[in-house]
Amino acid sequence: MSNMVIVGAQWGDEGKGKMVDLLCDRFDVVARYQGGHNAGHTVRIGDRQFVMHLIPTGILHPDKECVIGNGVVIDPEYLLNEISQLEALGISLRGRLFISTRAHLILAYHRAIEVATERALGDKKIGTTFRGIGPCYEDKAARSGVRVCDLFHPEVLRERIFENVKTKNALLTTLYQAEPLDAQAILDQVMALVEKLKPYATDTAAWLAGAMKAGKRILFEGAQAIMLDLDHGTYPFVTSSSAGAGGACTGTGVPPTRIDGVIGVAKAYATRVGGGPFPTEIKTPLGEQIRQRGGEYGASTGRPRRCGWFDVPAARYAGRINGIDALAITKIDVLDTLEEIPICSGYRYRNSDLKEMPCESSVLENVEPVYRVFPGWQSPTLGLTSREALPQKAQDYLLALSELTEMEIAMISTGPERNQTILLHEAKIFGLMV
Ligand code: GDP
Ligand code: IMO
Ligand code: MG
Repeated sequence: MSNMVIVGAQWGDEGKGKMVDLLCDRFDVVARYQGGHNAGHTVRIGDRQFVMHLIPTGILHPDKECVIGNGVVIDPEYLLNEISQLEALGISLRGRLFISTRAHLILAYHRAIEVATERALGDKKIGTTFRGIGPCYEDKAARSGVRVCDLFHPEVLRERIFENVKTKNALLTTLYQAEPLDAQAILDQVMALVEKLKPYATDTAAWLAGAMKAGKRILFEGAQAIMLDLDHGTYPFVTSSSAGAGGACTGTGVPPTRIDGVIGVAKAYATRVGGGPFPTEIKTPLGEQIRQRGGEYGASTGRPRRCGWFDVPAARYAGRINGIDALAITKIDVLDTLEEIPICSGYRYRNSDLKEMPCESSVLENVEPVYRVFPGWQSPTLGLTSREALPQKAQDYLLALSELTEMEIAMISTGPERNQTILLHEAKIFGLMV
C-alpha cells in the first residue's frame, strides 16, 4: 500500500507539475482526479519545457501508466490535441493512457455559457479560464451531462446534446443576448472524434483496482488547489471541482482506505490568478518584481498572476483539510534578492484575531494580515541541492514556515528543473511510499 496525493496548498500553480515529475519515478501510475484543461502543470527537463493541461504529467515518463479519472472534465477536441502534441514529441500514449468512461465531456455550449455568464457578472466576474469547466460540472450536478461512455451510444449522445442545446440556447438568447448554437454541428463535431477516443476509454476505477491488486503504486496529481476547491475554497471565487486531497477518492473511485499519504505543495510566497480575496497580495511595485523574477504568468492563459506573501492561515487550513503529511516548498530562489520577507502569521478582522478561515469571501477580502518580517538572505539559492548550502537566513525562514504552519517541510525546490531540489526528509516522504 503506497498511494500518495500531491495537492496544491495555496491558490494553484505551486509547482505541482515539477513535484509529480520528480516523485513519479517511485510510482507506477499517475492519476488526475479533477479539473480539466484549466490546469497548467509545467515540467522542465534540461532545456525542454512541457506544459501539461489535461493528461497527467507522468505521461512524460515512458514507463508510467496514466489515468484521467471520472472526476475530470474532458474537452474531447482538446484532449486529442494534447495527445497529438505529445505524439509529435515522440511520446507514445496507446496502452498507457486510460480515460474514465464516467468522466464528463466539455462541449461547445459549456464554453459559450461560460463566456456569457462571466460577461454578465461584470466586475464581479470569477476570472475563469474560459475552458467550459464550471458549466460542465454544473451539468454533471444537474444530471444532464454527457459522459465519455455516451460517445459509444449515438442515440443517447444525440438526445442529450439536442436536449442540452435547447436549454442552453434559451439561456443564451434570452438572458444573455448571445448567438444560439447549432446542436447538429456540435453532434457532428463530437461524432468525428469518437473512433480516436475509443482506444483510451475504459472503466478506470476497475482498472485502478486491478493495478493496486497487482501491487502497482499510484500517485494522484491534484490540479488547482485547496483555496480553489468548490467546497473548501474562497467561494464563489473557486473552480468547480474538489481540488483538495479528498477529491482523489471521489474523482477516481479509489477508496479513502487506500490513500497512504498527502504531500502539499506551496510556494515560499503566494500567487493567485483570477478574481477573489487574496489577503497577502502585494499591491506595491514589489509585487511586479516578484512576478518578473518568478515568471508568474498563467501556464494556461498567460494572465499575470497576483503575487503575495506566504499566508500561514491558508497553509494551516490546507494542512487540516487535506491531511497534509509533509510540505514541498517551491520557488525559494525567487525571494533571493529581497531585503525583508514578511510572512502572514494570522488574520485580524474587526479588531479581533480570526481563529478559522472565514467562510465568506467578503470577510476574507477585508481581513488585516498580521505580518512577521524576516530578513532576506540576499544571496543566490538557485539550483542548491542541500540544506547546508542554503544561506542561514533562508534556513531560518523555512524553519519559521514549518513552525508556523505546524507542518514538516520534506522538500525545497530551488529552481524549475528536476534536480534543483533539496530533499529534507526523504524518510518521511518515501516512508509514505514503501
Ligand atoms: P502547477 O500548476 O502547480 O504545476 O505550477 P505551474 O507549472 O503552473 O507554475 C509553476 C512555475 O514555476 C512553472 O513555470 C515551473 O517551471 C516553475 N517552478 C517550479 N518550481 C520552481 C522553483 O523552485 N523555482 C523557480 N524559479 N521556478 C520554479
Ligand atoms: P493549476 O492546476 C491557478 C482559477 C482561475 C479562476 C478560477 C476558476 O495549474 O494549479 P475555472 O476556469 O477553473 O472555472 O476558473 O480558478 N484556476 C487556476 N488558478 N492554477 C490553476 O490550475 C487554475 N485552474 C483554475 O484563474 O480564478
Ligand atoms: Mg499551473
